[in-house]
Amino acid sequence: MAPAQNVYDDPVFFEGYERLRRSRTGLNEVLEQQPALRSTLPASLAGLRILDLGCGFGDFARKARSEGARAVVGVDASCRMLERAAALTHDAAIEYRRMWVEQLDFGDERFDLVVSSLALHYVEDYAGALARIAGVLRPGGRLAFSVEHPICTALPAQQWARDSTGRPLYWPVDDYWREGKRETRWFVDGVTKHHRTVETYVMGLLRAGFALTALREPLPIEGAEAAVPELDLHRRRPPFLLLAGDRLS
Ligand SMILES: C[S@@+](CC[C@H](N)C(=O)[O-])C[C@H]1O[C@@H](n2cnc3c(N)ncnc32)[C@H](O)[C@@H]1O
Repeated sequence: MAPAQNVYDDPVFFEGYERLRRSRTGLNEVLEQQPALRSTLPASLAGLRILDLGCGFGDFARKARSEGARAVVGVDASCRMLERAAALTHDAAIEYRRMWVEQLDFGDERFDLVVSSLALHYVEDYAGALARIAGVLRPGGRLAFSVEHPICTALPAQQWARDSTGRPLYWPVDDYWREGKRETRWFVDGVTKHHRTVETYVMGLLRAGFALTALREPLPIEGAEAAVPELDLHRRRPPFLLLAGDRLS
């Protein structure tokens, strides 16, 4: 069943998110996708059939093709994100489909690599998602994904505790072991994410029949703070968790 919310189709949210990505000060560029997530993928993407879950604007699909991927299918729940992805893409070997991770269905199609950048913390049923992902991967194929770090999703507010001048004091963590839905504000109120512990993320992968190949908590890339000084905050607690594993059989 598809979840009730996809906030990426909310016009106010979409405008804020698009502005953030256009400004290139978003964390994707400076510490997550480039190069941390890339480092968890096979060294060469040449000839691979790749599935990107929650593909957004299709940045990864285009990058994978520039590295020689045979074909990329990007799926996303948001019509707005997919429209923008299609407008930015001029490549017959990249296909976008509107599909929820919760409803992943490719019949007999199999992929060599499944990538998902910052989408799975929107999915409530993690174990179910992993079972479906395993089902679309060829044996030996790899899943690599990033999520907001559980240290960041534990409390719904997702904010630094600050002193009276607004200076960040510390990042509060509470209710770490109370997994489940969190409603937060990001451009709009009521953005729903799903908090899980690191243990759940890792053990879920192992239980779904994957051999763990990487676990990363990336820092800002060297020199990034020169352009975006606030990035030094991400040296005080991990913003993202990256995991990768190979399907065993
Ligand atoms: C933070 S954006 C990341 C986009 C892209 N992966 C990137 O890194 O640039 C999260 C994306 O996941 C999509 N998404 C959220 N929940 C989803 C779900 N349940 N199924 C499929 N896509 C989903 C959103 O529509 C959005 O495009």
